[in-house]
Amino acid sequence: MPATNAPHDQIAVALDVPTLDEAARLAADLEGVVGWFKIGLELFAAHGPEAVARIRPHGRVFLDVKLHDIPTTVERAAARLADLDIDLVTIHALGGPDMIRAAISGLSDARKVLAVTLLTSMDAAALDAVGLDTNADRVPLLAKMATGAGAGGVVCSAGQSWRVREAVGQRPMIVTPGIRPADHADDDHAGVWTPQAAIDAGSNLLVIGRPVTRSADPIAAATAIVSSIGG
Ligand code: C5P
Repeated sequence: MPATNAPHDQIAVALDVPTLDEAARLAADLEGVVGWFKIGLELFAAHGPEAVARIRPHGRVFLDVKLHDIPTTVERAAARLADLDIDLVTIHALGGPDMIRAAISGLSDARKVLAVTLLTSMDAAALDAVGLDTNADRVPLLAKMATGAGAGGVVCSAGQSWRVREAVGQRPMIVTPGIRPADHADDDHAGVWTPQAAIDAGSNLLVIGRPVTRSADPIAAATAIVSSIGG
């Protein structure tokens, strides 16, 4: 669940910056402006639990490590992550129901487990290369399987949100990257949605990185995003 339904609790800033000092400075500046910070593989690979310890005082932590392994390994890794003060951890839905249940067991809290449906970087050619079809139902089906196995939420693009919401019902969290303020360039996203359009489609936590982190004024950029969804 987002901490509350308040607009600032529906925004996670992705701290995709090269150093932990830079990430911690951004988090300190944005404390109270946004409710969440996403720590990705780059920061976690370099700094591990210290990254969580430095960021957590400034907001809730969403650890985007996309676990995908045999259930026992995932359970044991998740149990170590449970020792940290983390609110959400990503896993790959493609790991299947047993792996999802193992992650829940390791974290001892189903609400912390977010299942990534399909990576937004997988286009038709990439899906074909790994033997997956481009059936439009694939993402909602994966979301339904993941929440059926107990995951508290799923990650999908805004374009899939309404179909995923239809598939999983009102309770699970839908977390969505690929968000751009209306006046912002698209970076490398194939299909971008404004914050309000993504919320209207059924998403309830929006992941936004570069429009904030690369802005000359990250506080103003984040404030404008929160205002655009009613904050
Ligand atoms: O593009 P932006 O900097 O807002 O990305 C924020 C987060 O969204 C990244 O950390 C990445 O996890 C995710 N992302 C994605 N698909 C992309 C680009 C980014 O899922 N094409």
